[in-house]
Amino acid sequence: MTQDEQKRAVAAAAIEYAPIGSLIGVGTGSTANYFIDELAKIKHKIDGAVASSDATAKRLLSHGIEVVDLNNVDDLSVYIDGADEITEHLHMTKGGGGALTREKIVAAVAKKFICITDQTKFVDILGNFPLPIEVIPMARSYVAREITFLGGQPALRQNFITDNGNVILDVHGLQILNPVEMETKLNQITGIVTNGLFARRSADILLLGTDEGVKTLRP
Ligand code: A5P
Repeated sequence: MTQDEQKRAVAAAAIEYAPIGSLIGVGTGSTANYFIDELAKIKHKIDGAVASSDATAKRLLSHGIEVVDLNNVDDLSVYIDGADEITEHLHMTKGGGGALTREKIVAAVAKKFICITDQTKFVDILGNFPLPIEVIPMARSYVAREITFLGGQPALRQNFITDNGNVILDVHGLQILNPVEMETKLNQITGIVTNGLFARRSADILLLGTDEGVKTLRP
């Protein structure tokens, strides 16, 4: 299977985890987009969706799926999203599309996080993919200096502003041996809104696209 076929396969497999008669948390990116296309086929069986970005909200609406504000949601059973890197412990790097903050918020509310990725995202150690960090614009230089002390090389993502009006620093050169510790450290730096490590709230299930078909992994 090509990478794209694997993305479509895991998106289709994720439909099994979308409970009938409930709201579904929906991620951002090309794999999540395939999932939205699948969700459209059962849209009359669900109550609607919570979107993790403006782009996802737009795509959901274009398929006639109702988008519900997270503030009006008491209970979200599932969040389904892709990742840029994921380990066997289901720790992830996310934010390649710049939607990490809203993704982390929806993931925090959801009871279950189902990650859907193709095989290329499955890694032994996080860090080869530059770690995205959303930063308040006036803190950009300060945060960049602090990240350098942690051993990373931050690069400002060019011509990009997040849905929340902030900038992204993509941090190169980190070998993230302890993702929970690194996520916690980064959370302490003033001016960082969100870092792209999803380790404190990791995924519960990974649907991994492979040449042999979709594999289901648990931590
Ligand atoms: C969006 O901000 C990211 O967290 C995506 O979930 C991640 O980049 C995966 O995207 P693809 O499915 O396009 O690889």
